[in-house]
Amino acid sequence: MADPRIVGYLNRAVAHEMSAVQQYMAQARLTALWGMAELSDSLRREAQEELEHADRLMTRLMHYGLAPPGGQLAPVRLGRSVRQLMEYNRALELDAVRMYEEAMAYCRRTGAREDAALFSALLDEEWEHVREIDAQMNANGSGDSDGRER
Ligand SMILES: [Fe+2]
Ligand SMILES: [Fe+2]
Repeated sequence: MADPRIVGYLNRAVAHEMSAVQQYMAQARLTALWGMAELSDSLRREAQEELEHADRLMTRLMHYGLAPPGGQLAPVRLGRSVRQLMEYNRALELDAVRMYEEAMAYCRRTGAREDAALFSALLDEEWEHVREIDAQMNANGSGDSDGRER
């Protein structure tokens, strides 16, 4: 039977990933309205990646014979400028990093190798998201040049 604490991590992670999907999709729409097609496309791709993370977590829940909890999603943080939007997204990604670090450490401690492997893979990918955001933020400088206010 599944360790309830691991199920808790999986449930929390699905909720996080679906919240991220919602945030990135909404931001993709917003930045399209700002006329920033390239940024909009990259946010849409990001939403796809987070959806794929949710899918992998759900696969694991199904393995334990459980349905995803379908709990509450976090509120979407849109941002009033590109800079602000990226800061929100960086914070979101760091939340994921902390969550997956904790989940991975617990699974390793208890010998749940397959769950540890999944959390470890997702942890690497969330770090990659943080690095991508950092690169975009550096490329945008202080953010005033295209940090269009609305
Ligand atoms: Fe993710
Ligand atoms: Fe992410």
